[in-house]
Amino acid sequence: TPRVFSGIKPSGGLTLGNYLGAIKRFVQMQGGGFETIYCVVDLHAITVWQDPKELRSATREVAAGFLASGIDPEKSILFNQSQVSQHAELAWIFNCVARLGWMNRMTQFKEKAGKNAEAQSLGLYAYPSLMAADILLYHATHVPVGEDQKQHVELTRDIAAKFNHDYKVDFFPMAEPVIEGPAMRVMNLRDGTKKMSKSGESDMERINMTDDADTIARKFQKARTDAAPLPESVEGLDGRPEARNLVEIYAALADITPAEVLARYPGAGWGTFKPALADLAVERLSPISGEMARMMADPAEIDRILARGAERARAIAQPVLSRTLDIVGMVRG
Ligand code: TYM
Repeated sequence: TPRVFSGIKPSGGLTLGNYLGAIKRFVQMQGGGFETIYCVVDLHAITVWQDPKELRSATREVAAGFLASGIDPEKSILFNQSQVSQHAELAWIFNCVARLGWMNRMTQFKEKAGKNAEAQSLGLYAYPSLMAADILLYHATHVPVGEDQKQHVELTRDIAAKFNHDYKVDFFPMAEPVIEGPAMRVMNLRDGTKKMSKSGESDMERINMTDDADTIARKFQKARTDAAPLPESVEGLDGRPEARNLVEIYAALADITPAEVLARYPGAGWGTFKPALADLAVERLSPISGEMARMMADPAEIDRILARGAERARAIAQPVLSRTLDIVGMVRG
């Protein structure tokens, strides 16, 4: 059976971007003829310093977000990365396969580092090599992600191909990114040219999965837009990034196309559309945030689920790592 792997960094709480770009699809793929493996990538989170207490809490919150959205720990494997040491071990091998020139092309590093690349951690630079290890340790074939991770999944294919070529084997498969539908790049509510992210400066620029109904309504109400009403057709969204973003968010939440959203609100002004969008978001998100809050009250149960998932993950990962070490020529007793 084809195998799905994907991960989310616990570097803060979950956003609507994580939900629409990733988790919603994770839930759809579970039980859709795939074996599904989902990971809270805590080793990736510390590429930028995290307060230890907040890291622990964010790890549990991301896990609770998965579970509350419909990831079933019986149907999927759900764990946190650092409990399966094979990830870090395979990443080292891949550090020796990947080329500096490849890393230098990664736009996410450039964006995060800005003008201050010299001051970033070595881990942030090598980040995509650990991500390739995450995926290839399970011989995953499908990787559901938001648009911003596409380049990293492509790099994973380059690493797999170079490993196979250098060692004259046909061992690691070529993983496909799965990026379909609207809202694969949810934008910042205050600036339609920037991605909505966990770590953006102002809380008003993102919807957090844990926001209450009033906060969600206020954030959409204050979302930046142009003055024109909704266009008749999707072509009319060209050059209107904020309008496109809100229409795509609606489409993804309602499971319809952007064209259907525009047909539902012909020529509507923001005074009509924004409250409708806020109502829909609250309707979709509040059952999830309610369940997350309930789960967060019992962290021991979350920890048990992650530990059990890690055990099942190791059972797949260890044979792949062992075979990799054999291929590379490591002596093992
Ligand atoms: P992370 O934690 O930044 O984001 C998790 C997932 O959410 C998606 N996403 C978005 N989608 C649409 N609009 C947005 N504004 C938005 N923001 C985030 C991301 O594309 C991602 O799918 N490197 C990864 C985590 C990772 C991973 C992996 C993913 C580590 N190993 C292996 C897949 C396979 C990351 O930092 O995602």
